[in-house]
Amino acid sequence: MSRTVYVNGDYLPEEEAKVSVFDRGFLFADGVYEVTSVLGGRLIDFEGHARRLQRSLAELEMKAPVEANELLEIHRELVTRNGIEDGLIYLQVTRGAADRDFAYPAADTEPTLVLFTQAKPGLADSPAAKTGIKVISIPDRRWGRRDIKTVQLLYPSMGKMMAKAAGCDDAWMVEDGQVTEGTSNNAYIVKGNAIITRHLGTEILHGITRAAVLRFAREAQMQVEERPFTIEEAQGADEAFITSASAFVMPVVEIDGTAIGDGRPGTVTARLREVYLDEMRKAAI
Ligand code: PDD
Repeated sequence: MSRTVYVNGDYLPEEEAKVSVFDRGFLFADGVYEVTSVLGGRLIDFEGHARRLQRSLAELEMKAPVEANELLEIHRELVTRNGIEDGLIYLQVTRGAADRDFAYPAADTEPTLVLFTQAKPGLADSPAAKTGIKVISIPDRRWGRRDIKTVQLLYPSMGKMMAKAAGCDDAWMVEDGQVTEGTSNNAYIVKGNAIITRHLGTEILHGITRAAVLRFAREAQMQVEERPFTIEEAQGADEAFITSASAFVMPVVEIDGTAIGDGRPGTVTARLREVYLDEMRKAAI
């Protein structure tokens, strides 16, 4: 069935939706994006995603295409029009269409705003949450402003393919001997009562799920250490997991062929996943 998508003010059947060949998102990857999950027809942590979008836009001196309340309306409208119970909403803003030039076009160039939905029935009941996923490590060869959520996703895409070729599910990226993050998620290990994840900076995306999970962990009196860790430390940890808007809290049971703990999803990870999903469902809008 054809989806209804949103392009620059219009709700259209996906076959009719068009963006210019001169769009800077297409020519320069000059665009930012957000992915918000939908559970039970409601948006998970919309405010967090809207806030990060504002920040990404500001960092790139890009004009916001619509006000935050209108953005919420568009999200809701797409959920309704496409009958989404569980799934994802993808949003992309680019600097708009302009004759090809490395310099930014005039400030009054209209940004491009595109949103579409992806239905994912049972998104929160993924079988992988019970079995865990396997990751490999790869060098982090992305650009230096990973805190801005740009659409330059070729290297993460290559990383996912390297993982697949190795019979694994994902890749953790390593820079200067330390893990930065997963190809499309933040990376964590658990040792004793401590949850360890890389500190915020320009080296990683400031995950919206990460912020919520760390808040819940602290509220549950768990110790949180925001610092870098190596693959070797991760291999010797009790548990490992990833977080993202689409995976929520997902156990990692193997890193570069080494089983983590007893090779099965850990109890701390399972508890965090449960708390995260419970609390976020309650707060969903
Ligand atoms: N990816 N790190 C990277 C590099 C990411 O691409 C993502 C999200 C995250 C987690 O951020 P959040 O918790 O806000 O989803 C961390 C999205 C889901 C994607 O590209 O599909």
